[in-house]
Amino acid sequence: MLEQLQTLKSEAEKQINEASDLKTLNDLRVKYLGKKGPMTEIMKQMGKLSAEERPKMGSLANEVRTALTEAISSKQQILETAAINEKLKAETIDVTLPGTAPSIGTKHLLTQVIEEMEDMFIGMGYEIAEGPEVELDYYNFEALNLPKDHPARDMQDSFYITENTLLRTQTSPVQARTMEKHDFSKGPIKVICPGKVYRRDNDDATHSHQFTQIEGLVVGENITFADLKGTLTVLAKTMFGEEREIRLRPSFFPFTEPSVEMDISCFKCGGKGCRVCKGTGWIEILGSGMVHPNVLEMSGIDSTRYSGFAFGLGPERVAMLKYAVDDIRHLYTNDLRFTKQFQSTETGEI
Ligand code: DAH
Repeated sequence: MLEQLQTLKSEAEKQINEASDLKTLNDLRVKYLGKKGPMTEIMKQMGKLSAEERPKMGSLANEVRTALTEAISSKQQILETAAINEKLKAETIDVTLPGTAPSIGTKHLLTQVIEEMEDMFIGMGYEIAEGPEVELDYYNFEALNLPKDHPARDMQDSFYITENTLLRTQTSPVQARTMEKHDFSKGPIKVICPGKVYRRDNDDATHSHQFTQIEGLVVGENITFADLKGTLTVLAKTMFGEEREIRLRPSFFPFTEPSVEMDISCFKCGGKGCRVCKGTGWIEILGSGMVHPNVLEMSGIDSTRYSGFAFGLGPERVAMLKYAVDDIRHLYTNDLRFTKQFQSTETGEI
């Protein structure tokens, strides 16, 4: 039996030592120390030994069992540590590697143009006013001196929602809404109204059923055409360069009298004539005029005491001219190859 125990011990120890993973080690534990293993078998045979030999063999068997249990548990520790190290190695992150910078995007070209104009007017003491895109026929047309059946309504094909509501065709209704609620004891009206407008147009390179406008309105005592001219000159120079000159041509809008259209001297050729200005040296930018007395009166303003000017322009046109964009649809389809070309100069802005 002594021999049996010794062989068992050395054989088991050898195998435990050679075990290369936890599963093999566990199988060895079951094999040598389990109920059906050789140790149990040996214990069973103890009864056959003499009274003298039994305790000796008994304690020897116990020693072998303890030795094997310890060998297994120390091997288990070694294998477990190795497994953890392996895992750590696989999951190691090199924190010194340079990171991937997230793309933070940039403001859309149209937003940049609108904000540039807003900043300029805010700098001159204007406030920003907004109105609804689903507008009453009254504000979009009637309050602007365009009664029902007025032929000039045809200048703007409209999306009607009901008989009295439509998607606004211009930002001019914000003029009427502003005038209606203004309190002149707090000073003159000086607002700009940026926003989306809608027209029943077929989309092509220069038309869109939805676009943006910026409306300007100044009403107070002694506001004259000279104020309008001065304001438009500043606008032209700010948006298109210090050297720009303006030209005012007589025109017609129902809500202004007199009405004018403003051209700027061509920023490409300086006025000599080129492709951008179609050889004329001038580029048409916006419509404007002195607010029609009917419009003032309809909004409850005394036209014998107060006067004012208004203007309306399209940020799309400004953006397209300034950055030589040849198709208005580029401004709406959000192709990153296009939008990414106009990185906002402001830092940290999305
Ligand atoms: N609302 C006009 C349009 O959409 C533009 C316009 C012209 C606005 C003259 C004005 C103005 O305020 O005075 O065609």
